[in-house]
Amino acid sequence: MLLLRLTPTSGSIGNSHDRDWMRVSARSLPSCRYGCGRIANMTTTDPAVPGRSRVFSGIQPTSDSFHLGNYLGALRSWVDMQHTHDAVYCIVDLHAITISHDPKELHQRCRAAAAQLFAIGLDPEECTLFVQSQVPEHPMLSWMLECHTGFGEAGRMTQFKDKSSKNERVTVGLFTYPVLQAADVLLYQANEVPVGEDQRQHIELMRNLAQRFNATYGDTFTVPNAHIVKATGTVQDLAEPERKMSKSASSTAGIIDLLDQPNRIRKKIKSAVTDAGREIVYDVDNKPGVSNLLTIYSTLAGESVADLESRYEGKGYGDFKKDLAEVVADFCAPIAERTNEYLDDVTELDKMLAQGAQKAHAIAAETLANAYSRVGFRQPVYG
Ligand code: TYM
Repeated sequence: MLLLRLTPTSGSIGNSHDRDWMRVSARSLPSCRYGCGRIANMTTTDPAVPGRSRVFSGIQPTSDSFHLGNYLGALRSWVDMQHTHDAVYCIVDLHAITISHDPKELHQRCRAAAAQLFAIGLDPEECTLFVQSQVPEHPMLSWMLECHTGFGEAGRMTQFKDKSSKNERVTVGLFTYPVLQAADVLLYQANEVPVGEDQRQHIELMRNLAQRFNATYGDTFTVPNAHIVKATGTVQDLAEPERKMSKSASSTAGIIDLLDQPNRIRKKIKSAVTDAGREIVYDVDNKPGVSNLLTIYSTLAGESVADLESRYEGKGYGDFKKDLAEVVADFCAPIAERTNEYLDDVTELDKMLAQGAQKAHAIAAETLANAYSRVGFRQPVYG
């Protein structure tokens, strides 16, 4: 492969020069027609749904179970949007090794992740679900984007600052994590990215990278928008309602896992931290614990917060929590059951993921071929 060395004519990769650090004219580079090369000649069925705008999102397989924050913040939208959009979803195992991991566990967790995603309602006929490491274009585009990302720009990512302060082993991969995330989305020319509020800054970065690349080399990538549901964009920890529910929390007491046993769920909800007073009212500033429980209740039961407030008027926290515990336990039990059914046949599960990867690869290869030709690379001769 010929690597074309580009020499910046002014500026450096740094804060004030992020935008004009590399002045390259697309017209000055050798042209290679869109889609040329072996990748583009592969016989694949076009997985795109004509006339539908595309969504892309990803989730890390870094725990044995997804939690209610993942579900309410993002996965619920994944399920809904598969019916209205051309939906491509990814289990991001490359991201999962940015912190220490156990290889066998990672392998198993990818399957468990896929099983849970099918169990919550993803339908392989309606969307494409695949594992990131099975589509090699992701790290290939990530490298190109890294070469267009300012060092200071990447250093401003709050998740990096957060994670690097908590982990003893801070890798370059953890630093470039958001750039790989940008590659994930841009490869699929996605219009929308359904995520929780904590991903907003990463989406902003990918928008900037797409715009910068397009401005430098000509239109190559769709500039994606974040799709964040306001009410559930941040689901809080039940034991510490001022913190978001997160798998990296020091205790599992405030995290409802989708695969938790019903009794464990009941116990966690009954011991959820509530606030001073007895009233069940939505007031995030003064009653963050109760407000969080109301949001969970309202979303899972499909009742408005106002209706719930009137239903529980004059009743105490005990009744409210008891009912909510049943709502959540009833919601999670069938997910756990279906997850186990999928995991009972891993051959079929792996086949579904391989089909997803094939569909995803067809889209990713086309975008990468175009991006390669735009920066002046030759096309890959394998694949
Ligand atoms: P991850 O695996 O941490 O979380 C998956 C999704 O769950 C959302 N989420 C929450 N939403 C509301 N309240 C919470 N407490 C909560 N906790 C998690 C996250 O916002 C996310 O949408 N970097 C991503 C994975 C990723 C990705 C992508 C996402 C990689 N490539 C491309 C979108 C597009 C992450 O770590 O998500």
